[in-house]
Amino acid sequence: MPETRSARLRAPAKINLTLEVLGKRSDGFHELRTVFQTVTLADTIEISVARARKSRIEIDSEPVIPDNLAVRAAETVLQLAGVNAVVTMRLRKRIPMGGGLGGGSSDAAAVLLGLPVLLGCFIPVGRLLEAAAQLGSDVPFFLLGGTAAGLGRGGDLYPLPDSGPTHVLIVAPGIHVSTPEAYRALRRPPLALTSASVSPKINNSPSLSFQLGAGVWPDEWATCCRNDFEAVVFESHPRLESLKNKLRSAGAEPALMTGSGSALFGVFPSRSQLDLAMRQFGDEKVHAARFLSRKQYRQLWWRQLREHIDQRSWPPRSRYAR
Ligand code: C5P
Repeated sequence: MPETRSARLRAPAKINLTLEVLGKRSDGFHELRTVFQTVTLADTIEISVARARKSRIEIDSEPVIPDNLAVRAAETVLQLAGVNAVVTMRLRKRIPMGGGLGGGSSDAAAVLLGLPVLLGCFIPVGRLLEAAAQLGSDVPFFLLGGTAAGLGRGGDLYPLPDSGPTHVLIVAPGIHVSTPEAYRALRRPPLALTSASVSPKINNSPSLSFQLGAGVWPDEWATCCRNDFEAVVFESHPRLESLKNKLRSAGAEPALMTGSGSALFGVFPSRSQLDLAMRQFGDEKVHAARFLSRKQYRQLWWRQLREHIDQRSWPPRSRYAR
């Protein structure tokens, strides 16, 4: 391996097109039904690696993030690959933090996808998925990208077909919502007690998956979108509900909170309608983005690792791997 190998990686955000929390599992996590969607808003990680006698991982992050998931992902890769290396990362955040947009999870997945390629190691996809799930419930999704149904803790993934180009306005009001607290506020009973009583009501996610699978347009599947966290999070932060209503009156279909909040998104049929809506948000922090299909997600990865891979397999395989 040459002295140092480097790549500049974009780590895209996600939104939850629907998110239903069924009940509490025996492992303390909650059973979910969700549909994830990657979008074009992204963080950037410049990553360099050189084999060494002793491993060292350094990160320069703007802003500084304590216990950065990207560092834990790099430690995991070195352990799985059984190699020692000096890894240096420069992380530039664009995805608002604590907003339910999966920025930290995407950064971690970017390291799981990119670092083995730079190191010249091959890690089977099953091991990567396992490592991803240990890092966080949303991390496995970013090994896949595009549109996908997520069950279990969110990591049992079922890819859905790519939809057409879709415009999305993300409103990030800078309110930090603690994910564990949001789950606690839902007060979901243990799963065994919920299955009989709650499941007939919880069918938005299967309906949405069905519609997305049929390739219909957002205005047709919008009615299947809901987020169970909205009720509890809006109660503590009423401003979020008024932002959602504002998105809706600006023509968004659907308009919804993502993850456990606090970011909201609105889907628009065209860029011009999105631009008109964006003007109504004044000083609010907003981002214009598009859905990033699985095909585009993979193309992005192949492009950013181009010089280190020689065929378009997934996950990207290092050209240096024996
Ligand atoms: O897995 P992750 O670190 O993202 O989860 C953060 C917290 O969110 C967990 O500690 C747990 O309290 C809650 N959570 C949950 N059920 C899930 C995902 C997350 O209860 N499916």
